[in-house]
Amino acid sequence: MEAKTPAESFTIMNELVLPNDTNTFGNLMGGRLMYWMDIAAGIAAGRHCNTPSMTVSVDNLSFKNPIKLGNVVHIEAKVCRAFNTSMEIHLKVWGEDLLHQYKYESNEAFFTFVALDPNGKPRQIPSLRPESEEEKKLYEGALRRRQIRLILADKMKPEDANELKALFAEKIS
Ligand SMILES: CC(C)(COP(=O)(O)OP(=O)(O)OC[C@H]1O[C@@H](n2cnc3c(N)ncnc32)[C@H](O)[C@@H]1OP(=O)(O)O)[C@@H](O)C(=O)NCCC(=O)NCCS
Repeated sequence: MEAKTPAESFTIMNELVLPNDTNTFGNLMGGRLMYWMDIAAGIAAGRHCNTPSMTVSVDNLSFKNPIKLGNVVHIEAKVCRAFNTSMEIHLKVWGEDLLHQYKYESNEAFFTFVALDPNGKPRQIPSLRPESEEEKKLYEGALRRRQIRLILADKMKPEDANELKALFAEKIS
């Protein structure tokens, strides 16, 4: 399978915050935003692996600024590392005030998707070849983030997380 670049999975999604999308404060509901982010991540995953895929994990979802009723939600997603059957997708979200013409950061997150074969079993995906400096940084960090996820999911023993151990050793020394 030929390696792909993050640019090949790059996805932009825009939504308008309507009354039915808001909480009692008149801001976009977190759950609605997560729904849209999951779709954007799913499109990016599909562009990378060209097979059906599923969300297996979501992490680091913290909300910096609320997005207001009537503002535009701007979501960008791209694959930042592909492993064997799973891939990590980086998402960035902004709010956009069209009347006053400014954009503000809302949140950032990492989603992990698994590619599935016709029997619903995980299947091999193309590797990823990062190009820009930012993409290379995300690519390197993805290995450590994966180890944290797998340890928390009880799928990896902490003593096997070599990259994480090396990072802690470096920080302590
Ligand atoms: C996705 C699913 C088919 C994977 O099955 P599984 O038995 O966990 O398969 P494996 O243990 O072989 O894991 C498959 C891949 O997922 C990764 N993975 C599994 N659990 C993970 C987790 N919590 N976080 C990150 N990656 C995870 C594994 O590392 C592996 O990746 P790799 O092949 O690139 O190394 C299964 O977990 C599932 O059906 N989950 C429900 C998904 C779902 O319903 N999503 C919709 C949201 S409700």
